[in-house]
Amino acid sequence: MTDLTPAGASALDAADPLAGFRGAFVHDDADPDLIYLDGNSLGRLPVASATMAEDLVRQWGHRLIRVWNEGWFEIAQRIGDRLAELVGAEPGEVVLADSTSIALYKTATAALQARPGRTRILTDDLNFPSDVQALRAAAEAAGPDHGVVILPTDGIHGAVGALSDALSGPDAADVALVSLSQVAFRSGWCWDLADTTRMVHEAGALVLWDLCHSVGVVPIDLGAAEVDLAVGCTYKYLNGGPGSPALLYVNAARTELRNPLRGWLGSDDPMAFSFDAGPAEGASRFLTGTPPVLSAALVEPGVDLTLEAGMDRIRAKSTALTERFIALADMHLAPLGFELRTPRDPGRRGSHVSLSHVEAQAVGQALVNESHTIPDFRPPDLLRFGFAPLYIGYADVDEAVRRIVEVVESGGIDRWRGVQSVVP
Ligand SMILES: Cc1ncc(COP(=O)(O)O)c(C=O)c1O
Repeated sequence: MTDLTPAGASALDAADPLAGFRGAFVHDDADPDLIYLDGNSLGRLPVASATMAEDLVRQWGHRLIRVWNEGWFEIAQRIGDRLAELVGAEPGEVVLADSTSIALYKTATAALQARPGRTRILTDDLNFPSDVQALRAAAEAAGPDHGVVILPTDGIHGAVGALSDALSGPDAADVALVSLSQVAFRSGWCWDLADTTRMVHEAGALVLWDLCHSVGVVPIDLGAAEVDLAVGCTYKYLNGGPGSPALLYVNAARTELRNPLRGWLGSDDPMAFSFDAGPAEGASRFLTGTPPVLSAALVEPGVDLTLEAGMDRIRAKSTALTERFIALADMHLAPLGFELRTPRDPGRRGSHVSLSHVEAQAVGQALVNESHTIPDFRPPDLLRFGFAPLYIGYADVDEAVRRIVEVVESGGIDRWRGVQSVVP
């Protein structure tokens, strides 16, 4: 039985093998009490990235065009290979490219082209809106007979049964692609990547995983699961920085998959300046234009920290943090009208916990503006609390719950009702 007292939290923090990683991130000296629970949206700034950013700008200023020969030209592939270590991929199977939304469009279109005669993409209603929009655009581009089927869920758990039915039912032969968020952005539901991929393949379809909310907190083995395609954000748990380029994975065995947005950087010889250049090898063929060097380079320090910490230790701490938060929420927040909207099974959730409340937006505003605590709000009624194991401790969990109780009991909802910010 977990000790939910403050002494219990202190003992866990004292024994935490990852505690030292907190110091690898920048913290605002002017706000030492801040508890940052939004690393699932925008991760913290690694200290090494702050130094690196200055160095990158200096290189640009001093080395000018010569710097392309000093590691910049291959940056998407080199950091892709580091990311490959994190997701169970081989060198050459991952590149840094575009935003997740664009990477989704490219990979989904490639999958549809590789399954002629099949016209359906399956996803579920827990998926991120940008994913569904990109999948619909890919279906539209493939032809008027193509479309996206959105399987319904209970709002918390992925559509496991509905997917299994769809893949074994009379229309299974129409399914070209299944695309899902491994960890759902609203509820934190986490799919079994290997089992689901196997089920999709048995129906003759391809699979495209969105790893935005899982990479860096959930152990992932794309190779062992024989995943075809995957994309994911690097600015959440990987701490790559606002708008840092996405990871894009293409299984080396899927040589038939072709980039629908071809350009010189995805060709086999960009510097030949030929109209007829062929595709580059591996995931590099999914590149299009010049890499965003500054933001691509800044992905590496966060990936280094994650690899150093080790995914097993990260997952163990992530699970312990979310378990503790849920237990304390049951005790102290349920009586105040909060309801758990995340799976209770730790094996089936990522590293954030969502609570619904009729006044969720006002509670969120009160926490941010009065209480040095940053969760985020997703309409209509969800507060999400992200637990990034590299910089959140057990005492932070206890203190966050105490602050939520405090803002609600002190009338914070009345003070902040109706107040909105651009990014809630
Ligand atoms: C699950 C998921 N997929 C896709 C995206 C879109 O990423 P981007 O805006 O970088 O294209 C996000 C952004 O938060 C996300 O959470």
